Amino acid sequence: MAFSMEFINELKMRNDIESIVSSYVSLKRRGSNLVGLCPFHGEKTPSFTVYPETESFYCFGCGAGGDVIGFVRRIENLDYVESIKFLAQRAGIALPAEGLDDNMSKLRARLYEANREAARFFYKNLTAAEGKVALDYLLGRGLTPSTIKHFGLGYAPDSWDLLISHMKSKGFSASELQMADLAVKNKSGSSYDKFRNRIIFPIIDLRGNVIGFGGRAMDDSSAKYINTSDTIIFKKSYHLFALNFAKNSKERVLILAEGYMDVIALHQAGFTNAVATLGTSLTKEQASLLSRYADEIVIAYDADEAGQKATARAMGILAGNPVKVKVLTLPGAKDPDEYIKKKGADSFRKLLEGSKNDIEYKMQKLKEGFNLDALDGRVSYLKEAVKILADTADPIEQDVYASKLSQELNVDKGAIALQLAEVQKRRLYREKSRILKPNKLPAGEITKPDPQKMRYPKAVAAEEAIIALLIRNPELFKAAEGKLTEQDFVTDFNRRLFCSICDKIKDGVFSGITSFYDDYNQEEIGVISGIIAKNSEFVANKDELCNLIDTLIIEKKSIDVTKAASEQEILEYTKKLYERKNKGVQ
Ligand code: GTP
Ligand code: MN
Repeated sequence: MAFSMEFINELKMRNDIESIVSSYVSLKRRGSNLVGLCPFHGEKTPSFTVYPETESFYCFGCGAGGDVIGFVRRIENLDYVESIKFLAQRAGIALPAEGLDDNMSKLRARLYEANREAARFFYKNLTAAEGKVALDYLLGRGLTPSTIKHFGLGYAPDSWDLLISHMKSKGFSASELQMADLAVKNKSGSSYDKFRNRIIFPIIDLRGNVIGFGGRAMDDSSAKYINTSDTIIFKKSYHLFALNFAKNSKERVLILAEGYMDVIALHQAGFTNAVATLGTSLTKEQASLLSRYADEIVIAYDADEAGQKATARAMGILAGNPVKVKVLTLPGAKDPDEYIKKKGADSFRKLLEGSKNDIEYKMQKLKEGFNLDALDGRVSYLKEAVKILADTADPIEQDVYASKLSQELNVDKGAIALQLAEVQKRRLYREKSRILKPNKLPAGEITKPDPQKMRYPKAVAAEEAIIALLIRNPELFKAAEGKLTEQDFVTDFNRRLFCSICDKIKDGVFSGITSFYDDYNQEEIGVISGIIAKNSEFVANKDELCNLIDTLIIEKKSIDVTKAASEQEILEYTKKLYERKNKGVQ
């Protein structure tokens, strides 16, 4: 790690985890810790915990964990050095020069520069003679020159290598261009321009870096849109088009549209709070990003069936976030772009005001599937509708819609309330058992369980308590030294962890979870934070540590004995088998 321990400690002191996390997550005090809804996965009851004492966080739901640097790294989607820079800037501390000497960081900076230069090239081309087709196309679609400039739209010329030769003249290498996905490598090893004869939409991150491009064809001869593939500076599923402009929405409302052109038309019409995903359906990372800049999301997807399906999917993904969701339906137009062109901004504003909230929208969609004239149709509709009501945590909202349903279906409101309570009770129960059994979480949400850990739960409990105590209180190391060695550990992961802790403490460079960033990946850092989190109740003193060490040593011995016994048994068994076989032969 390129930064000194003194610097990291200073950085962490000036950016205490509680206040950093609080600026993203609303936290409530629980004992000496703080809890809130996890920003890294959707959840309705808080399993995300901040431990001020160990300066760490851990989510019992998804297994994300780390220190303040790890938190910033995840939530801002930065690499290690960038997170350090981010925190240093926030606290107003200067970065030590040697820390910047990070190869990955340098490479990323180069790719940002390459993209910026390419964006300039595309923009210039649009206003040059060869870009006339493209400019005419954009003007023909109703964009003004100032909108084109504002979004930095461009034109990629109809050529295999004009961008490449321009970039080379600016000092960029072929490999840099390939890494930025501006150039594509062909079989012979040389490369060609990725974007050819396309309108270019630069994608800009929240810090103003050009991180990728969308390119639209002007005819039907090839794929309508192509986008920059994921690179080391661009992950499609983490960014939203135009969020760099929309993030400042004073009302904290964001409009989520499907496409680049919708967003641009909306901004031009004065709705500067519109954003879009980058050619994929909404991801949970994008949903949590949206919820950081808005309290209300208005989904304004295309009116066609695909758009409506995508709306349902997006509602599901947004549901885990602390945002109000509304849905806009566009009468007489296929998308927001066309709607504004046909009916104007004022009419769109009225639509926005009248947009249905997610409950109304879902109820309306649900209703379409039932025959409300028939009694059993009404009963089935009611049962499903109550489930929708149970999705909201707001009792006032529930009451309003329960009244509506009661009138609409001529059913006693008390009966609806009873049914609602029943559904909620069942869900609460399910949620509780989910948190108590973290291994039962949906696949991919949590690190795979370690089979060694499952096998020796007692020894593992002791191992992890020891590790947690040492991380929290490195001074206790002296008490463990000589008494406990790496051979006493039963599981490989904990043994490796113990060795890392010993090494760092002996070298005098131990600084909590941060010490593990060199040798452990993000998932493993989560596991380590989990070990600390699960052992936060232990009193960190010498006696406790010695007891734990004794327990571990005894456990380890009995495991070894059992193992030896079974090895012995196997040996004897094979011997007998062999003898019997030999006898048979004789
Ligand atoms: P216009 O047709 O120019 O109005 O653009 P649009 O943004 O309205 O396009 P559309 O509604 O067809 O698609 C919505 C979004 O989906 C686009 O902005 C793209 O991000 C993405 N998309 C559409 N077609 C393609 C495609 O062929 N390939 C990829 N990768 N993405 C596409
Ligand atoms: Mn369109």
